[in-house]
Amino acid sequence: MEDRRIILETENLIRQYRQYDLVVTAVNRATFHVYEGEFVAIIGPSGSGKSTLLHLCAGLDRPNSGTIKIRGNDITKMSPDELGEFRGKYIGMIFQNHNLIPQFTALENILLPTLMCNKPEYSYEQNLRKLITALDIADRLHHLPSELSGGQQQRVAIARALINLPLIVFADEPTGNLDRKNADEVLHLLLETKELLGQTLIIVTHDMSIARKADRVMRMDNGFLAPWRITAED
Ligand SMILES: Nc1ncnc2c1ncn2[C@@H]1O[C@H](COP(=O)(O)OP(=O)(O)OP(=O)(O)O)[C@@H](O)[C@H]1O
Ligand SMILES: [Mg+2]
Repeated sequence: MEDRRIILETENLIRQYRQYDLVVTAVNRATFHVYEGEFVAIIGPSGSGKSTLLHLCAGLDRPNSGTIKIRGNDITKMSPDELGEFRGKYIGMIFQNHNLIPQFTALENILLPTLMCNKPEYSYEQNLRKLITALDIADRLHHLPSELSGGQQQRVAIARALINLPLIVFADEPTGNLDRKNADEVLHLLLETKELLGQTLIIVTHDMSIARKADRVMRMDNGFLAPWRITAED
């Protein structure tokens, strides 16, 4: 256990939103770490702060206070340019609502991260072929997101998250819009890619059958994050 390396480490992370004269503390002093190669599931009720926490850790949002270290680098201290490059290189993000760019085709959306990724030795073609086959989107590549079903949009978003072979993948309800069969297939792909690349996988999910497969589960409740052991009641 002790010789495992920590890839993500946060300390006293706080993110507040001001809603008129009300302050909502979406993430409240979250302190946790994730080891390299771990699969961590984050569960918790709607509005408890799961997406906010994920966005902070993926460098898509800034905390009010606290630190977020990825491979020892505090991403809260990086300039926007540094953070953009760091994200392109190391981080894959699957959003809760896909976040595909509506004017771009599926293929253009998938390839977007390759434009921001400074990995001269990496050529994405082989990975692209593997992803579009595994995700069954080969015949949808030249369509706009509005011409795809919700499940297809989600699979395009997953391909986009994995195209740069990121070391750490954050997935916010990646199977939320999929039926059981497709959800199982997507999880299988995420776990297979994880094993192949030694990735670290952090998934927010309401799906307990996914959470049960994780190495470790954490639960958010009203902004507070805590370790969790799944029982038959969950
Ligand atoms: N941009 C925003 N502006 C103001 N308040 C926000 C914003 N984003 C989130 N919040 C608030 O922060 C809290 C946490 O929201 P968050 O989206 O992180 O929850 P969640 O656990 O992901 O919920 P769900 O399971 O429904 O996706 C909620 O009270 C929400 O209303
Ligand atoms: Mg959410």
